Amino acid sequence: MFLFLLLLLSSPSSIFSRTATAQQINSNVSLGSFLTPTNNSYWPSHSGHFAFGFYPNGEGFAIGIWFAKSQQKTITWTANRDDPPLPRDVTLILSSDGRLILQWEYGQQIPFANTSQPASSASMLDSGNFVLYDSDSRIIWQTFRAPTDTILPGQSLLAGEELVSSISNTNHTTGRFRLKMHRDGDLAMYPTQYAAGDDSLYWNTATHPAGGNVSLNLDTDGKLYLLNARGFNIRTLNDGQTVFGNPIYRLTIDPDGLFRLYSYNLDQNGTWLVAYQDNENKCLPKGLCGLNSYCIPLDQDTNCTCPPGFDFINPSQENLGCKRKSSVDDCVSTNYTILELERITWESDSDSVVRSSNKTECGDECLRDCNCEAALFDNQECKKQKLPLRFGGKNNDGETMVTLIKISNGEMGGKERPREMPTRNDSSIMIPKNNKSGLQIGILVAGATSSTFGLIILAISVALIFKHRVSIFKVLSDKANGEFVEDFNLRSFTYEELEKATNGFNERLGKGAFGTVFKGALMNGKVIAVKRLDKVASEGELEFQNEMRSIGRTQHRNLVRLLGYCHEKSNILLVYEHMSNGSLANFLFKSETKPSWKERVQIALDIARGIHYLHEECETQIIHCDINPNNILMDEHQRARISDFGLAKLLMPNQSRTLTGVRGTRGYVAPEWYKNQLITVKTDVYSFGIMFLEIICCRRSVSMDVPDDEAILAEWVYSCFKANELLKLFSAEEVAEEVDEQALQRMVCIGLWCIQEEPSLRPSMRKVILMLEGTIEIPFPPSPASFSSVV
Ligand SMILES: *[C@@H]1O[C@H](CO)[C@@H](O)[C@H](O)[C@H]1NC(C)=O
Ligand SMILES: *[C@@H]1O[C@H](CO)[C@@H](O)[C@H](O)[C@H]1NC(C)=O
Ligand SMILES: *[C@@H]1O[C@H](CO)[C@@H](O)[C@H](O)[C@H]1NC(C)=O
Ligand SMILES: *[C@@H]1O[C@H](CO)[C@@H](O)[C@H](O)[C@H]1NC(C)=O
Ligand SMILES: *[C@@H]1O[C@H](CO)[C@@H](O)[C@H](O)[C@H]1NC(C)=O
Ligand SMILES: *[C@@H]1O[C@H](CO)[C@@H](O)[C@H](O)[C@H]1NC(C)=O
Ligand SMILES: *[C@@H]1O[C@H](CO)[C@@H](O)[C@H](O)[C@H]1NC(C)=O
Ligand SMILES: *[C@@H]1O[C@H](CO)[C@@H](O)[C@H](O)[C@H]1NC(C)=O
Ligand SMILES: *[C@@H]1O[C@H](CO)[C@@H](O)[C@H](O)[C@H]1NC(C)=O
Ligand SMILES: *[C@@H]1O[C@H](CO)[C@@H](O)[C@H](O)[C@H]1NC(C)=O
Repeated sequence: MFLFLLLLLSSPSSIFSRTATAQQINSNVSLGSFLTPTNNSYWPSHSGHFAFGFYPNGEGFAIGIWFAKSQQKTITWTANRDDPPLPRDVTLILSSDGRLILQWEYGQQIPFANTSQPASSASMLDSGNFVLYDSDSRIIWQTFRAPTDTILPGQSLLAGEELVSSISNTNHTTGRFRLKMHRDGDLAMYPTQYAAGDDSLYWNTATHPAGGNVSLNLDTDGKLYLLNARGFNIRTLNDGQTVFGNPIYRLTIDPDGLFRLYSYNLDQNGTWLVAYQDNENKCLPKGLCGLNSYCIPLDQDTNCTCPPGFDFINPSQENLGCKRKSSVDDCVSTNYTILELERITWESDSDSVVRSSNKTECGDECLRDCNCEAALFDNQECKKQKLPLRFGGKNNDGETMVTLIKISNGEMGGKERPREMPTRNDSSIMIPKNNKSGLQIGILVAGATSSTFGLIILAISVALIFKHRVSIFKVLSDKANGEFVEDFNLRSFTYEELEKATNGFNERLGKGAFGTVFKGALMNGKVIAVKRLDKVASEGELEFQNEMRSIGRTQHRNLVRLLGYCHEKSNILLVYEHMSNGSLANFLFKSETKPSWKERVQIALDIARGIHYLHEECETQIIHCDINPNNILMDEHQRARISDFGLAKLLMPNQSRTLTGVRGTRGYVAPEWYKNQLITVKTDVYSFGIMFLEIICCRRSVSMDVPDDEAILAEWVYSCFKANELLKLFSAEEVAEEVDEQALQRMVCIGLWCIQEEPSLRPSMRKVILMLEGTIEIPFPPSPASFSSVV
């Protein structure tokens, strides 16, 4: 509804004075004045350049500010841009008691501008700012502090503020792209449909970190620059004075996702011309085209196109994305073809990268891998991907890029070159796969699908892969016993070496469910973390080395990397890279400043990506079994990384169906642990969900220093969610900062889905990522039920 209009004079005084000097003259509106849509009334600025009032919008009207000199009104600000059009019987009144209100014909009133004190006058300034003054002529409310898609000379985009594009040049509803002035000093652009994170970033000034309070400023001479908190210019985007005559400027993020500085020459009856544009690549904005489709630049705009083998989801709305003509479900027995697409770039978040000397080899690599649905080949690198592909587009840097798409034969006949799947005993298959235990097959099957039919198919296919992998592994391990350790850069340490490296296990970093961690340093100075495992399973040396190799190969930017190990007699020690910024638990609960909302979402996404990799993308599926904030470490870039993965399996004393030998951490373990049910990937999803609520709310899942009804976070979150009072979860200053209630509601819904008691109701981590990114709708979650078992 009529939200957001609580705009007090909280802006720095420099902005105020600049605004005030930009216009010497003003056109005052006295108490008791009013505007109606019908008789075309508006409040003009003194020079007549700008006007404030009703303008036609769809079936009705909107209230806004426009530049009145151009032939068509140029809307520079819109009030409540996402509300339905106003009917013709409303009146905007600056009441005699100093309130700016909207009144309907039958008397209903809604505040238009919430101010803490009554206004004594209003003015449409010549700068394009509409302001309310108190009795001391101080500004108590101004449209410049609630920009929509445009800033005008004298107006700044302050730290934390953003411009959001309109749907089109005639419809000023919230559109698809935003230009955000980050608190850390970076000016950046993102699609609105995704969280503002590194993945969806498509343009930035990279001026961070700059100490906070950096603002984007536009001067009357068209100079566009960033100022830091002390008023120093840290980046000039445009030098100004590029246009002759008597120009006026505006900076707008256009519906196509690019921002442009426009100029209008007041000496001529002309149009707005582009005076400066940072990037001309029309396909630069990410998300112009939907999932699995790519952007092609045309003369005037862009076109979204489907790759071969794909159709538009909705042919009348081409930017919604594309889907496969038929699905690839049974990877093992179907016969596939690789189709090629040239010079298109995509987001490549794959960590499954293999070297290939040419695209044919890369295609074969993808055909062999059931987890590969497409591959990106460039510069001898073959990146295996799962669908959907995102952010496709024709770019200058994609000249040598080849997209290889796996299509089941039969659905595409004809011109493309069909290739049969290589036979399974092809000597080029060199990737040693782990001997999957019966336990993991059970887990994989139960976790992957819930329909019985699917189960049978999957069980058969898994069994086939399993059998096959065992035989490959045997062959290779006979030939090359032990060499793998070097292959994967895992080092075998002696106990003495590690004792020395840790100075006699002197500096303890922490203790987890599996063992104690010590800080150390190698001879070359590299800082390491050494984990001494408490429980030692009596596994054979070969099995142990296999596990180590499996963990060593499991590499992802959101996982802590294993560097080596020591296995001597009853001692097992694991050597990891050291994470300089401690654990997530310390970061969330102990540090002095709480992470910002954006940082919280980024941390959650990082962790979700790491778990998703363990569950679906690495060679052997890994169920972590102990996801909790002590096992998440923060690296030097403050990115979250998961540690301790693979240990549950290593420490499992006997291969029973339920992992009774290892227990997760109290408070994070899923109900199935207590019920002796099968442990699946959904067990990790549960622990993630509990931790996710902790990240979002920045407090522990169980807290004794709060009122009883708030003690159990999951329970309290659900009750706030049901009562529609989510903001209660935050302190006042957090709310004031930048917690957006709608975003919060989405996050809470994701958390509540993850902690459903019934494992099959919990989403997969892949789905969690899509939900976090805002790619898919999130239905309202049911009650997570048995809170009692949570504690
Ligand atoms: C403005 O005031 C109205 C009525 O007092 C209230 O419902 C609304 O939430 C307020 N808006 C803001 C942004 O505070
Ligand atoms: C606008 O029209 C309304 C009736 O539709 C009338 O009462 C009002 O006086 C008019 N205002 C002006 C400024 O003409
Ligand atoms: C603007 O676009 C939105 C979203 O497509 C639509 O719901 C709305 O009706 C449009 N408004 C106008 C005035 O055309
Ligand atoms: C308009 O209002 C401001 C603030 O109340 C005042 O300083 C100024 O003199 C007024 N200007 C005119 C032309 O009335
Ligand atoms: C940023 O500005 C706000 C309000 O103007 C001020 O409270 C805060 O201390 C400033 N922060 C920095 C880092 O300058
Ligand atoms: C612009 O056009 C208006 C009317 O269309 C006219 O009155 C005015 O003189 C023109 N100004 C210039 C500079 O051409
Ligand atoms: C835009 O894309 C559609 C569908 O992919 C295609 O039929 C059309 O020819 C393209 N338009 C241009 C101008 O390339
Ligand atoms: C691709 O590389 C493979 C292995 O190096 C080689 O056998 C094959 O001939 C190459 N194909 C082409 C088209 O160059
Ligand atoms: C794969 O499909 C092609 C075309 O449908 C067919 O000719 C070929 O025999 C199939 N190969 C196998 C191994 O099924
Ligand atoms: C694969 O195995 C089959 C049967 O064991 C054998 O006939 C065939 O020659 C083998 N293919 C290759 C490429 O080694």
